[in-house]
Amino acid sequence: MIKLRLVFITMASVVAVGATAVLAQSELALRGATPINSEGPAAPMPPTRNSAETEVRNYPEQPPLIPHSIEGYQIDLNSNKCLSCHARARTGESGAPMLSVTHFMDRDGQVLAAVSPRRYFCTQCHVSQYEVKPPVRNDFVDIDTLLNSPQPGDRR
Ligand code: HEC
Ligand code: HEC
Repeated sequence: MIKLRLVFITMASVVAVGATAVLAQSELALRGATPINSEGPAAPMPPTRNSAETEVRNYPEQPPLIPHSIEGYQIDLNSNKCLSCHARARTGESGAPMLSVTHFMDRDGQVLAAVSPRRYFCTQCHVSQYEVKPPVRNDFVDIDTLLNSPQPGDRR
């Protein structure tokens, strides 16, 4: 009985040490050297990626990323700065790509004459990019890479 209890205690401490190590690792990634009980200085604002180049989408339904700065662009009840370039009637002078037809559809799939209210707040879905090193590693693999990698059960 005593032996069993000892084994249990040992196991519990191994788990606890493991959990602390994992916590410490993720903390380190996000907080840098700042101890857990104090607040570090705010990181400097990174520069916007302002390349004007189309970013490759990771999957077909992904809202395209914004390849330009949107600093100071207002979107509210009375005005929408994005539409001043991306609206159908404005694309001639702006050279911006027009919103696709899905932006005119209501939730029943009916195509409206103007931009649908549910697509009015552009930055709900479209985001600009910043020159930063991701604090946490991301091992996302896109579907084309996945389809081309050997699958279990493949015949060779
Ligand atoms: C001054 C005109 C202008 C304004 C305002 C503007 N855009 Fe753009 N946008 C462009 C142009 C031009 C492009 C094409 C790429 C380039 O030249 O930067 C573009 C590209 C894009 C793309 C990429 C489309 C694709 O198929 O890759 C998205 C998404 C986008 N803009 C969203 C927005 C959003 C959201 C706003 C408002 C927050 C906005 N834009 C405001 C001119 C504008
Ligand atoms: C609810 C999410 C959502 C909102 C809100 C939204 N979009 Fe999109 N947008 C998408 C998705 C998803 C795509 C790609 C598939 C498609 O065209 O529907 C897209 C595509 C685009 C494209 C590329 C069109 C093309 O043919 O390549 C532009 C430009 C764009 N959006 C601009 C805007 C602007 C400007 C607004 C605000 C008026 C806006 N979007 C609001 C989700 C959204």
